[in-house]
Amino acid sequence: MDDRNGRGRDRPAPTGARHSPPASFVEQANVTDDSIHEAFDEEWPTCWERAASLLEWDEPYDAVLDAEDAPFYRWFTGGRLNAAYNCIDRHLEAGRKTHAAIRWEGKQGERETYTYQDLSVAVDETAAALRELGVGEDDVVTVYLPMIPELPIVMLACARIGAPHSVVFAGLSADALATRMEAADSEFLVTCDGYYRRGDAFNQKSKADNARLALEQDVRTVVVDRLGDDLPHVLGDDEWDYHDLRDQYAGATVDPVPRDAEDMLFLMYTSGTTGEPKGVVHSTGGYLAHVAWTTHAVLDVKPADSYWCAADIGWITGHSYIVYGPLALGTTTVMYEGTPDYPDRDRLWEIVDRNAVDVFYTAPTAIRAFMKWGTEYPEKHDLSSLRLLGTVGEPISPRPWNWYRKHIGGGECPVVDTWWQTETGAVTLSTLPGIDDMKPGAAGPPLPGIEARVVDADGDPIEPGETGYLTLSRPWPGMARTLYDGDDRFREEYWDRFSDPDADEWHYFSGDTATVDEDGYVTVLGRVDDVINVSGRRLSTMEIESAITDVDGVAETAVVGRSSDRNGTDVYAYVSTEREVDPDDALRRRIVDSIEAAIGPIARPEEIVFTPELPKTRSGKIMRRLLEAVANGEELGDTSALRNPEIVGEIQAGRGDHD
Ligand code: WT7
Repeated sequence: MDDRNGRGRDRPAPTGARHSPPASFVEQANVTDDSIHEAFDEEWPTCWERAASLLEWDEPYDAVLDAEDAPFYRWFTGGRLNAAYNCIDRHLEAGRKTHAAIRWEGKQGERETYTYQDLSVAVDETAAALRELGVGEDDVVTVYLPMIPELPIVMLACARIGAPHSVVFAGLSADALATRMEAADSEFLVTCDGYYRRGDAFNQKSKADNARLALEQDVRTVVVDRLGDDLPHVLGDDEWDYHDLRDQYAGATVDPVPRDAEDMLFLMYTSGTTGEPKGVVHSTGGYLAHVAWTTHAVLDVKPADSYWCAADIGWITGHSYIVYGPLALGTTTVMYEGTPDYPDRDRLWEIVDRNAVDVFYTAPTAIRAFMKWGTEYPEKHDLSSLRLLGTVGEPISPRPWNWYRKHIGGGECPVVDTWWQTETGAVTLSTLPGIDDMKPGAAGPPLPGIEARVVDADGDPIEPGETGYLTLSRPWPGMARTLYDGDDRFREEYWDRFSDPDADEWHYFSGDTATVDEDGYVTVLGRVDDVINVSGRRLSTMEIESAITDVDGVAETAVVGRSSDRNGTDVYAYVSTEREVDPDDALRRRIVDSIEAAIGPIARPEEIVFTPELPKTRSGKIMRRLLEAVANGEELGDTSALRNPEIVGEIQAGRGDHD
């Protein structure tokens, strides 16, 4: 198995323990009919009408699925709808104006509640302002904001006027922002002056300014004043203050633009196997139907719930399960700007307690941290409001899974381990909490209507217990429609490997390895490609390597993942220097700076190991697999293909730093 990523390799397989959902949960669950798996199978693809029926359509669709031009599938063709209308207006019409839509918890302890009516006003005014700045239908608006209410407001304002948004995680660097804006040919940017990091004011606008300097296109920029007097800023040409604009358009209303089901709702850049990030294109109808359906069926969210997905909207989890899914269902979505340990390690539990959170969704990396910090923090608060827990982003092994269920879920809450990706748009593998037994360590079976297969290198299904490649064999509504960089790259990245176009057989390749058990429960092990998943964030080793080789004095580098209790995987960088260059701390610092400038602090290596040479095959290829084994302290296996086997011993003995 060409498993390039150390992640999860030593993870024990599910212990065989099974947990049934408690009767008290099942009684109230949104989905309880256990014939649903079968029904979706028999009625496929019409079964997906159940998802579409959670939305309000301006024009009904003619067909559920058009597979004519596979793998460019089209869902709910002919249908028209507006995502902002579905997330806001229809709830007002249903008499829920005063229901809380967003409860925001700021980093400085600030709290704001937006009712659906408040959200409606804010989105309308923002949409009017964006339009006035020249944003038209199909213009890509880049949004570079931290977790402040203006972020979902701007996204929904874009959706209202049919302008796809491209949200760039606020922690990414100026270079990363520029790359994404250039690739998307985006001429509009919404950002802010800055934000607080552990109490300190941090300048965001200077990063946005630097990105704009690097761009050829003209960019009109809207700046949210988040910090006020804590960080004064000046507006230059083509820059507007967000709140001034809002004042100018106070009371304005904007009719939602009916969009074709297949029109792009948003673009989301993610790391791929090459240095260039991939612009994943999501549709309006299929995406919204799939996220609404999974928020209902998997996260069991009800309109009256207080629901909290503790992720960042700058990544797909936040798009689907902080913004679009919960708001489409008309629930209250909690949005938290800060970190779990500031001002103290009980911060999240305090928020759960105060907001009487019913459903809580987070990542294994956070759960592992909670476990390390100890039970005293959750024990300080009343968590009895919780009904369901979810996890996403990385494999979770049985120990943290059990800890989560016991110490956060009071031993009662079902835990859904949801596997999905930026490209799948919404959850694709998970137990249904009111029906399926849970097996700690395994994400679960494919959702009704989804077909997952774990296959060998030839694409043939493997025996239970063996490791293979995780593929999805039927299209699903939330799937990426293409890559903004082009249809060819979309086919190459996801479809070419396991599909047989002549036979019109299409299998989506996830890039993950997995095993499947006798009951069809899938345990995801990790990535096979050059992507590493650090704390549930996807980084491309090639992107990091290219930032390292940009540094003067660096000859060559290889970046690998090392399994870590804390982050799931850590970034390890092996670097060889040019002959006359000293591999000292100054060089180390320059490497870190370069990575932070190219990508952002999230890609900072845990360890930079200097070595006189990298291990290479006789044909000159760097043997990353070997480096990964070294980083993970594993058996090296066969090293006979190496041209310079002696170097491995040196690196292993930690004598890499030639001094
Ligand atoms: C990759 C996708 C989906 C939102 C967050 C990440 C890994 C995701 C699980 C899970 C094991 C998981 C996979 C996947 N992953 N969920 N429940 N169990 N692995 O989105 O950045 O597109 O990353 O995250 O490796 O391919 P993403």
